Amino acid sequence: MIQIAIMGLGTVGTGVARVVEENAQQIQRKLGEPLQVKTVLVRHFHDGPYRHLMTDDFRKIEEDPDIRVVVETIGGVDAAYTYTRRALEAGKHVVTANKQLVAEKGCELLALAREHHVRYLFEASVGGGIPILHPLTECMAANRIDEVYGILNGTTNYILTRMVRSGASFEDALREAQKKGYAEADPTADVEGIDAGRKICILADLAFGRQVDPERVPMEGITRLSLQDVEIARQAGYRIKLLGRAVRLQDGACSAYVAPHLIPAEWPLASVEDVFNAVVVKGNATGEVMFYGKGAGEMPTASACVADVMEALQTGCGSDIGWEKDGAFKDPLELTSRYYFRIEGSLERAASFGTVKCLWEDMGQTALLTDPISGRKAQELAHAVQALMCLRVLE
Ligand code: HSE
Repeated sequence: MIQIAIMGLGTVGTGVARVVEENAQQIQRKLGEPLQVKTVLVRHFHDGPYRHLMTDDFRKIEEDPDIRVVVETIGGVDAAYTYTRRALEAGKHVVTANKQLVAEKGCELLALAREHHVRYLFEASVGGGIPILHPLTECMAANRIDEVYGILNGTTNYILTRMVRSGASFEDALREAQKKGYAEADPTADVEGIDAGRKICILADLAFGRQVDPERVPMEGITRLSLQDVEIARQAGYRIKLLGRAVRLQDGACSAYVAPHLIPAEWPLASVEDVFNAVVVKGNATGEVMFYGKGAGEMPTASACVADVMEALQTGCGSDIGWEKDGAFKDPLELTSRYYFRIEGSLERAASFGTVKCLWEDMGQTALLTDPISGRKAQELAHAVQALMCLRVLE
């Protein structure tokens, strides 16, 4: 019998306990022994099927030699960071879905895990149930990765889909996403692009082998979007999606950001809806590879955690990943793309924009697409005409 502990019994922690129970046979067949949750760390005891496993004392996990893997689903940095460090120092593998902790402290925790000959695994931290970090670091290992981008937040994609398809209000759609267990404890992290920002940092760390500090990554969410722009974009053959994007630049530096984008309607990403996520990785040998699946929710995310538990048990301190602490980072305003603007007045007000394509004129407003310009230039133009909307176009 192999025993594990779970720290934090929220949506994902509960899912981990359920997957271990419900898929016991498959897991035992692969591990050669049964897997069992022995202890669950909670802040407050509460009723439910795992009541008999609960403790509020971390030492019951730290000092228990029978517990070989600890699944951290507390979230945030404070307690999660302290307990993760102590569990690794106690010689236990740690598996997590905590993207904030990995984005901020992953480099340090991976080094600590190596020092103590254990694994720190976090497949579930990006893309929920989609296998993306293992394929990126293993199956695509022979490539130079030039770019990673995608829909990285299930809650905002769900909200956009519900608003566009069924005319739901932002508030109602968010409430539904919370009920379904997609949203973060504080959904500001979802709707303001912070959750997607942490995920693009993790993807960039692994893709480029250098730490991308979340503090330096501009993150914009969906709260500024209007249904009017969604409709104008749709009629022009585009869809609006919240994308995280990380790019390797020619001088070896990288850049990353999160923002809503116009993307061509015929791109596979354009039809990624509801809670689904999709990540596109551009390798110099493979070209573009796309990963698609459920990006949030109890069972998909738990599936990735339990697979990491099994990997840690099967490979021990074998294969390992990591990245360098400091990497050169360029402001994404240096990146060039076409831009979508909606402005007050006629096209003449955009005389300083260079060559533009008019998409729509109505009610004294104009929507247009520019030729490729830098983000900095787009920002200056938006400021000069007090644009009602300015969005990057990816094509
Ligand atoms: N709140 C996150 C999302 C959960 O909606 O994508 C999965 O990381």
